[in-house]
Amino acid sequence: MLFSPYPKTKREELFDREKELEELKKAIESGERLILLLGLRRLGKSSLLNVALGELSYPSIKVDVRKTYSEFSSVNRYVVGRMLLSAISGKLEEAKNFLRRVKGISISGVRIDVSPRDFSIVELLEALNDYGERTGRVIIAFDEAQYLRFGGATRYDGILAYAIDNLDNLTFILTGSEVGLLFDFLKFNEPGAPLFGRYHHDIILEKFNSEMSAEFLEKGFEEMRFKVSELEIEKAVEELDGIVGWLTLYGYIRVTRKVKHEDAMEEILREARLILSTELSRLFSYSPRYKGILKAISLGYSRWRDIKDYLTLKLGYINDSNFSSLLENLVKSGYVEKRNGRYKISDPVLERVFREL
Ligand SMILES: Nc1ncnc2c1ncn2[C@@H]1O[C@H](COP(=O)(O)OP(=O)(O)OP(=O)(O)O)[C@@H](O)[C@H]1O
Ligand SMILES: [Mg+2]
Repeated sequence: MLFSPYPKTKREELFDREKELEELKKAIESGERLILLLGLRRLGKSSLLNVALGELSYPSIKVDVRKTYSEFSSVNRYVVGRMLLSAISGKLEEAKNFLRRVKGISISGVRIDVSPRDFSIVELLEALNDYGERTGRVIIAFDEAQYLRFGGATRYDGILAYAIDNLDNLTFILTGSEVGLLFDFLKFNEPGAPLFGRYHHDIILEKFNSEMSAEFLEKGFEEMRFKVSELEIEKAVEELDGIVGWLTLYGYIRVTRKVKHEDAMEEILREARLILSTELSRLFSYSPRYKGILKAISLGYSRWRDIKDYLTLKLGYINDSNFSSLLENLVKSGYVEKRNGRYKISDPVLERVFREL
């Protein structure tokens, strides 16, 4: 169902995105080693990734790095190794034969164990590369890969660079909604960094335009045989601004709870507040000024100077360079976008929530 509120896994559930899907599949099939799937939160990166992996015959392994980080407060080699192995077990029986010889991994029946002491991710990747020799290729996807920066002593940029240079049967797909943070971590443009100058194929997911958004809603409601007025569709399209995750949730709430437009919007705001309270609490613990900046921009202050004046008025003096770096971090995290020298909250639903901060 088009309005299912979980990441999609089948092409029939995916509205549009044919172009991006074909591009992703083609990149994998032609043997590219590093593919980045980029876009703001809730634009369908995980869905696109799932559908592409499902349609290709190559074995694939996916690790949700954001979830791993929030569960274990770390993404050290041991934690990520365990996630990779648990994605393999139960799915890629044949791979196990290649994993037996990796130091620190023990396999008995369906159980795969990792001993934290002598386990090496590089060796695991080398074994998967050998397995890829047989299968044509192995795809390793890190969903929300910007969280790999919390590897501590495990330097994933170095590991990726080694794999990309040497393990030609592996394709890495990194998705990221905090695009600036992902690039900060990968450092393609920093001489001396492990991934400096490496080729990467970027696929960027954009918001739907108004026509597409309306068509998505109409199609979804029609599928559920649920009647809504044209005016309501128009309002939803305007308020949710082409973000497919919100459009999906809107449709889902209207259909399953049989509520009016306004109540569904209220519910979406409630949901957004809930998501944000966990996401933002981490950000705000670094600096309470983030809150002031988000509030200022959501109230319509869009120039650097005006945002800074607002912040100074509310929270006291801050020097220019500290202020710039806080603002820049918000751009890197995707909450704020900068266009023609003006700052704006990228997501209209979040904008409404930030106004209440
Ligand atoms: N092309 C699409 N057609 C129909 N529904 C979609 C599409 N893309 C995404 N969705 C829906 O939108 C929601 C968000 O999708 P998904 O989780 O794939 O996005 P994401 O970009 O990975 O988000 P996040 O950054 O939060 O991880 C899900 O409910 C999913 O079902
Ligand atoms: Mg996702």
